[in-house]
Amino acid sequence: MKILAIETSCDDTSITILEAKGGLKNASFKILAHTLNSQSIHKAYGGVFPAMAKKEHIKNLPLLLKEALKKAKIPEEKLTQKNHIDLITVTYGPGLEPCLWTGITFAKELSEKWNIPIVPVNHMEGHIVSVFAKSKGTFKVDLSEKKFPMLTLLVSGGHTEIVLIKNFGEYEIIGKTLDDAVGEAFDKVARMLGLEYPGGPKISKLAEEGRKDIKTKYNFNLPRPMLKSPNLDFSFAGLKTAVLYSLKKIPKINIAVQRELAMEFENAVTDTLVYKLKKADEIYHTKNIIIAGGVSANKHIQKVLKKVFGKDKILLPEKKLTGDNALMIGVAGYLQYAKNPDKATAMKEIKATGNLCL
Ligand code: KG4
Ligand code: ZN
Repeated sequence: MKILAIETSCDDTSITILEAKGGLKNASFKILAHTLNSQSIHKAYGGVFPAMAKKEHIKNLPLLLKEALKKAKIPEEKLTQKNHIDLITVTYGPGLEPCLWTGITFAKELSEKWNIPIVPVNHMEGHIVSVFAKSKGTFKVDLSEKKFPMLTLLVSGGHTEIVLIKNFGEYEIIGKTLDDAVGEAFDKVARMLGLEYPGGPKISKLAEEGRKDIKTKYNFNLPRPMLKSPNLDFSFAGLKTAVLYSLKKIPKINIAVQRELAMEFENAVTDTLVYKLKKADEIYHTKNIIIAGGVSANKHIQKVLKKVFGKDKILLPEKKLTGDNALMIGVAGYLQYAKNPDKATAMKEIKATGNLCL
């Protein structure tokens, strides 16, 4: 079946067209078109403004649809006929509600026009399945029993969670942040260092440069939060405040300060994530560990996790699929549909749900 997937939960507008077959246990996909517009308008503001992001999604969606249909070689005039697009999948949460609504409303218009059903998709489930996807060509998703239970570390701008996956669609959140998400902490620290949004990639680059230079000058000593707590929860607000206080003592933030602080901050975050994940793995004895969400692009975190757990146990998305994209929404939507076709629903029932849980 052909699937049109839509993602608008934050500041990326994306539409993907996939050919999917095989059902839940034997799913395979062919990418017919993949489009993405990462809104650059938010750069100077240090974060995403929902009203601005919503406007951009409304502008981008029809343009990306045209582009995707052209790439997939589906003539627009034939879309009302059967077998061109069979199903729409759209993110309905979690995310910024004004942004989520733009995708949902757009999906609804297409569903009515083409007379096809919609599957609402949880954005975080999208990130989870992104580790099985490829950004080009064809790929298979192996959800056979031998893969479970799995552990997932979801790290994005809005989430920091450890999730136990007993089977596809059966999730238990066993650890979460009590305040800031890890991506949010990266973005806020970047802002303190005078860097543009999104700060994660910039901090990561500075930290890498810092590691190459063995002479440390400032000797920042940031806390590793929550290591003594008995549970699997995280907290990053204190770490962020510690960065603020450390910087207050420095008369001028130059590149040497940026590099050294970025390195210590990244080390502190990595130590915390690895510690909690190790603890979770010791309790649940899982077969694979999925790392997904925007922060999974972080090279240092990837390297340390592979070293601690072994390369084969860690499943990471391709670099291109670490951020938000509709491809993962198409894959998750198809798997949900294959598991339970009743999931495809009349649009009336789909509501943007900003704080949707897994
Ligand atoms: O999943 P995502 O694209 O959007 C949300 O659903 O939040 O994640 C975006 C977050 C931002 O906070 C961004 O700074 C962070 O992912 N990020 C990184 C890196 N690349 C993106 N954080 C650390 N290191 C990176 N290389
Ligand atoms: Zn995301």
